[in-house]
Amino acid sequence: MSESPPLKSKRFAVLAERDINKETFVEPWPEAGLIVADSPHDPSPSLCMVDGRVVEMDGRARADFDVLDAFIADHYLDLAIAEATMHMPSVQIARMLVDINVPASEVRKLALACTPAKLCDIVRHMNVLEMMMGLTKMRVRRTPANQAHVTNRRENPALLAADAAEAALRGFAEIETTVGIARMAPLNALAILIGSQSSRPGVLTQCAIEESMGLRLAMKGLTTYAETLSVYGTERSFADGDDTPWSKAFLASAYASRGVKIRFTSGTGSEALMGSSEGRSMLYLEARCLCVTRGAGSQGVQNGSISCIALPESLPGGVRVVLAENLLAALLGLEVASGNDALASHSQIRKSAKLMLQFIPGTDFIFSGYSAVPRRDNMFGGGNFDADDLDDYNVLQRDMQIDGGLRPVLEAEVLDARRAGARAIQAVYAGLRFPSIGDEEVDAAIVAHSSEDMPERDIVADLAAADLFLSGADDVQCAVAALEDAGLAVAAANVRTMLRQRSVGDHLQPAAIFVPDAASSNGMRVASAITEPNDYRGPGSGYRVEGARWEEMQRIPQARSPRDFIADRIGTPLKNLHELGDATQGRYNEVILAVGPAFGRVLTRTIGGLEHEEVLAAIFTGVAREGMTARLVRVYHTSDCAAIGQVASTLSGSGIGIGLQSRGTAVIHRKGMPRLHNLELFSFSPSMTLEIYEQLGANAARYARGMAVKPVPVMIDNWARLRLIVKTALLHRRETEEIRERKPQELLFDWEPDV
Ligand code: 5AD
Ligand code: CA
Repeated sequence: MSESPPLKSKRFAVLAERDINKETFVEPWPEAGLIVADSPHDPSPSLCMVDGRVVEMDGRARADFDVLDAFIADHYLDLAIAEATMHMPSVQIARMLVDINVPASEVRKLALACTPAKLCDIVRHMNVLEMMMGLTKMRVRRTPANQAHVTNRRENPALLAADAAEAALRGFAEIETTVGIARMAPLNALAILIGSQSSRPGVLTQCAIEESMGLRLAMKGLTTYAETLSVYGTERSFADGDDTPWSKAFLASAYASRGVKIRFTSGTGSEALMGSSEGRSMLYLEARCLCVTRGAGSQGVQNGSISCIALPESLPGGVRVVLAENLLAALLGLEVASGNDALASHSQIRKSAKLMLQFIPGTDFIFSGYSAVPRRDNMFGGGNFDADDLDDYNVLQRDMQIDGGLRPVLEAEVLDARRAGARAIQAVYAGLRFPSIGDEEVDAAIVAHSSEDMPERDIVADLAAADLFLSGADDVQCAVAALEDAGLAVAAANVRTMLRQRSVGDHLQPAAIFVPDAASSNGMRVASAITEPNDYRGPGSGYRVEGARWEEMQRIPQARSPRDFIADRIGTPLKNLHELGDATQGRYNEVILAVGPAFGRVLTRTIGGLEHEEVLAAIFTGVAREGMTARLVRVYHTSDCAAIGQVASTLSGSGIGIGLQSRGTAVIHRKGMPRLHNLELFSFSPSMTLEIYEQLGANAARYARGMAVKPVPVMIDNWARLRLIVKTALLHRRETEEIRERKPQELLFDWEPDV
């Protein structure tokens, strides 16, 4: 007996090919750190104090503390209330987080007295919906914002500047770049600084690069913030990064002393990736990072797994825990740039669903890097959302009336902004005697989709210029002078303003960004935890999308006036349709064709664009083909297709009637049938052709003659309703406007059948 091959489902074969099945999914393995929360090796929350000093924390005696424990115990915990807070049930604090009647400040005060294990124990009780509620309340800044990535494979400065200018126009509050070749850092930092400021003042810029280089760029005035001060949740991974919590705190102070905004970077998964998780869960290690971040005096953090996102996403509960780490950061009063930056999924469904967890509650920066360039040009390893998704993003904002930090833009204004950015960097390169940026490069950068569209540059010469610039005395002041010499006064003034802000320092406050402000002398103001704190207290409070901002978000260029929608279906009344008077009851073997009130008078084309005249001719031809005659009637008292069909059937001598609406929907009805039952319904009006209308006429005639009829196959175009629903509604509305209290009228259709 031969064995039959195993059954294979065709459905499963299709599922196997779906994007979601390109992902890696693994089961938890706590010993390897592959567990997102509640590892069996996570400690239970505990705190013991003697003489105002922590002697035991999360199950570890002080003698056994590692550097993170020591730093957290001595620089993070609010010891005045720590013991009392640790005694509070975690679920009670979790409920306070969600409760709109408990102010954010009250919960935050408690959180700052919780150990890392206690923080995990709080969010353990929360599902994603509750976490989103918590995040909406705990977010530091009142208004959410967004950060962009601007990079390109060829490290082309004109393209970097043009892309930064466009990103600024689109509303990004921060723009960061990075490098393919490390030595390029000063030039890339310069390009996005100049590009962004030539478009909109106040955009903060940085270059993600090795930290000592990052500090040098800041000192030269080439960056206004820094965010990749990475911290990790175990001592080993910290040491591998050549750091301690103290060295990070020192670096943060160095930046702050020069008026440069900083935030730390952490995020679930990095320790497991570095092979030093100590068997702890990702969330527990991240809680430690956040306590260190706060203890070191950083105003904020970039977390949400960041570059490691694929690791938690491979595990059960991963996306929930990434939200939990964002929430913990906000709970501690840190500005949060909440991830969504690195490519996290092959599946469009999955990546959009994940985004909603930060998009809906709103965070200080919903993306800690929305790729404002095409994916191939994203040197951060490919953005999760990129330039090609910008229209989608603007529509999401409009759909949900949610501020995601961006605005719809017109092509013409984008081209202007890109021109300004590319010309400005061209002038700066000339002024600083860098290898020149040609006019053809500027022109290409204005219209480019990606770096593929750019002429190639001499990278060796650019790198030499970068080295010289970094080691020499020239700095951003020289770039400002070059802009002024070139007559680019606005860009020069904007860069100068950013430099001046360094000594003012308001943007060093938590969650600070510059927002446009026409009332201010320099066109902008600082929005931060101090000047515009989040005041969410439930419905009717906190930030609401309204007024001018809501108007702006609605105005996507694709949106059309509904009044224009059916203009091309309205025409001059048909000259060969004549009303003869009240329609009479037929006595002969005829088919009645009844049309809607607007047919051939106000509306003259179907939704599919067929001329009413030709539709009538087709139906008449079909009826005649089967040896019958058709009589034409106009119904005035209703625009409903079934009702029109029913009227037709009652007037018809044969009892067979056709109802036809102006938009083209048709029905064949038999006298005596219930109104909503019929012989054939042609509801797919956009797909109707003259051939089908003729067949409709023929079938009606065959029903009238009592013959066997093969119904016209129903056509289903799933997209038609989606595409045409507005048109359908408006055509129906127009027809309905023509309803009159008037009996059905006999019509003469004066036409010559082709023979
Ligand atoms: N933890 C700590 N630092 C991270 N970075 C990215 N992801 C993480 C993480 N999970 C930092 C690294 C990287 C930069 C883009 O951000 O320093 O180089
Ligand atoms: Ca970032």
